[in-house]
Amino acid sequence: MTVTNNTAGGQPVSMANLRGVRKLADKYKVLVIIDSARFAENAYFIKTRETGYSEKSIRDIAREMFSFADGMTMSSKKDAIVNIGGFIGFRDKELFRKASTFNIMFEGFVTYGGMAGRDMNALAQGLYEGTEFDYLESRIGQVARLGEKISAAGVPVQVPIGGHAIFIDAGKFLPQIPAGEFPAQRLAVELYLEGGIRGVEIGTLMADRDPVTRLNRHPALELVRLAIPRRVYTDNHMDYVAAAVSNVWERRDRITRGLAIKYEAPIMRHFTVELDLLS
Ligand SMILES: Cc1ncc(COP(=O)(O)O)c(C=O)c1O
Repeated sequence: MTVTNNTAGGQPVSMANLRGVRKLADKYKVLVIIDSARFAENAYFIKTRETGYSEKSIRDIAREMFSFADGMTMSSKKDAIVNIGGFIGFRDKELFRKASTFNIMFEGFVTYGGMAGRDMNALAQGLYEGTEFDYLESRIGQVARLGEKISAAGVPVQVPIGGHAIFIDAGKFLPQIPAGEFPAQRLAVELYLEGGIRGVEIGTLMADRDPVTRLNRHPALELVRLAIPRRVYTDNHMDYVAAAVSNVWERRDRITRGLAIKYEAPIMRHFTVELDLLS
């Protein structure tokens, strides 16, 4: 399970949901592995939104979340507030040993996994700081303020605002562009041209092709995600982003065509795709 759902507006996974998944996994005898990227933001949302958790600390909530898991992976550049790196954890020693062999083959020895000692120190410190309520409140508050600014300009965004990103509804922003011309990607390109803002498409391009028919899959929503890295931007930067998004919104009627694929990889095409602007 990923906690804090990236493709659904950065919304959290509730403790009740995690508990339910554990029950289901026990019934079918499968492991529960948590993808822990943004686990602290998830804990923040449990604290602020779920009944019974308002008095608990972020760390106690995180401990309870992980109590339902057999293992975990962590992309540390999320809530461990570092530039790079990660780690894995298992309850079962045998599984840990098996995974460690792969670690040595592909990353580095088990105790450092390809990371430098000083990066590991920073990561350990980041786990403490990233689970401070005040830090999370300030970070998630900054994301919410950006979302509110963009929304106040009339731009359709997903609500409630998530923990790490604003999700713009590109289907409503550019309804004149058909899904086959990748409206959300078109909007992402336009935001880059307008203000150098790098968002990511979460729409037809990312949904990729049906593995059997090879036809494009069209998800229910065409979204552009503006993910906000932590401790990088000031509120002034957020004002700049909001102004750029509003500028594109003002002239949206003049964006009449989308994009066509020039090159795509057989899987996960959105990472390396090359596109032509249609005119
Ligand atoms: C939920 C989630 N898990 C894992 C990853 C991968 O992390 P990394 O780039 O550190 O391998 C990402 C995005 O980068 C993510 O959003």
